[in-house]
Amino acid sequence: MQITVQTNNLRNWSGSVLVIGLFEEKVQLQLEVLNGISDPTSIAKHLDDKDFSGKTGERVHIQILGDSPKKLVFIGLGDPEKLLLNDLREGAALAARESLDSDGAMGVVFPWGRFESSIAAKAVAESIRLSFFKDQRFQSDPKTRKHPVKIDLIGISENIEETFKKVNSICAGVELARELVGAPPNELTPGGLANKAIEIAKEFKLECTILERKDCAKEGMGAYLAVAKGSDLDPKFIHLIYKPSGQVLRRIALVGKGLTFDSGGYNLKVGASKIEMMKYDMGGSASVLGAARSIGEIAPKGTEIHFIIASCENMVNGSAVHPGDIVQASNGKTIEINNTDAEGRLTLADALTYACKLKPDVIIDLATLTGACVVALGEQIAGLWANNDELAEELKEASSSCGENLWRMPLQSSYKEGLKSMLADIKNTGPRAGGSITAALFLREFVEKDIAWAHIDIAGTCWTDKGFGVNPAGATGYGVQTLVNWACNQNN
Ligand code: BES
Ligand code: MG
Ligand code: ZN
Repeated sequence: MQITVQTNNLRNWSGSVLVIGLFEEKVQLQLEVLNGISDPTSIAKHLDDKDFSGKTGERVHIQILGDSPKKLVFIGLGDPEKLLLNDLREGAALAARESLDSDGAMGVVFPWGRFESSIAAKAVAESIRLSFFKDQRFQSDPKTRKHPVKIDLIGISENIEETFKKVNSICAGVELARELVGAPPNELTPGGLANKAIEIAKEFKLECTILERKDCAKEGMGAYLAVAKGSDLDPKFIHLIYKPSGQVLRRIALVGKGLTFDSGGYNLKVGASKIEMMKYDMGGSASVLGAARSIGEIAPKGTEIHFIIASCENMVNGSAVHPGDIVQASNGKTIEINNTDAEGRLTLADALTYACKLKPDVIIDLATLTGACVVALGEQIAGLWANNDELAEELKEASSSCGENLWRMPLQSSYKEGLKSMLADIKNTGPRAGGSITAALFLREFVEKDIAWAHIDIAGTCWTDKGFGVNPAGATGYGVQTLVNWACNQNN
């Protein structure tokens, strides 16, 4: 997507759709910007007829007869005193939706001056590009879809070329994650995920190792391999490394849950448990690979970054894990598998142990881990658990600055009682109540205490049935923006 800034003169701009953001007071006065393009008085009347008063969330479009622009879109930005960056982001998403029948260039006139212009420009450009996304890969004869291919942010005089490069890299990572999550489980298998990782590594010069079943067995990854046992497909343990040019000041590991399908195993998913949606149980790994793609392209200095995914399917056959089996993870801990549907944490037990052996400063895992997190926070907020307050704050900051919502939840140590096993060191499943907290506590057992660690449960946020904000219906690519913004900010 080509993104440019243009200084103030609207009359020199040409394109097919022009978006104007308006506050909820003195609308007619604000319309003066349109002088020379259209008649502010008749537009004010039209907006009035449509009951547009500039409140947040309002939008109206006007088709006009000329060639440039062919369409005007008005977006309400609410009270100017209360304007947040997120209002621009949401307003831009609405404007993008109103522009889906236009091609060529889209001009945007927003109150840039209220924020640092590169920050506002990044939010708006990302929002527009991400709102245009549609997955048509699985249609035999897809309808050609129109949308503008160039975005001109009008009224910005700074040169922010570098910001736009970053916008495009980040959006490409989000789109990659959305495509991985959206792909059906017969298409995106553990082998398919590994191939994608190899492809990304080649294109962006990352180091790549794929551990096969026998390699994982040598590492003693009994928890991960137990999950993979019931599938005809081989598990693939993926490890990519981004090495910065110059000095390494910090080393971080990003770990993603990579179940390309979760049937539940012998604790089969039944009733309302959405078994047909469990292709998205690799959402964490999709965000980690999306981040790898973006980071590889942005090439931040000073930070070495490891991307780790223990990928497999959770299926049933004669060799599948039994409910009640006891297995041993690669850190030596024995686990009684009292529920085969709590499989993500078993794969993560070995992935986190592997990450710890690399001795990084920070580990962050992303996982579609629990239905309990969906119940608690819904589809627009992910759960965050951390053993380190500073890391939690950094992640909350990184996520709020890019419009991804994160809410910190407690690592309530007393709930570990629920994971006590009569026979093994730990059970994989506690009581229903507080299910996302016991899941996080289970993961903590596989992280070295002196490593800063955060766990993000994206079970609710990785998919949206109806769409919201910058997310059209379907896979959201949640997490890529937070991870990339956070990782690229490590040495400031
Ligand atoms: N992949 C699911 C979690 C999930 C549920 C993701 C709904 C997205 C939407 C996970 O493997 C799972 O099955 N968790 C169980 C754990 C339980 C058995 C302790 C759950 O949440 O029901
Ligand atoms: Mg499960
Ligand atoms: Zn799962």
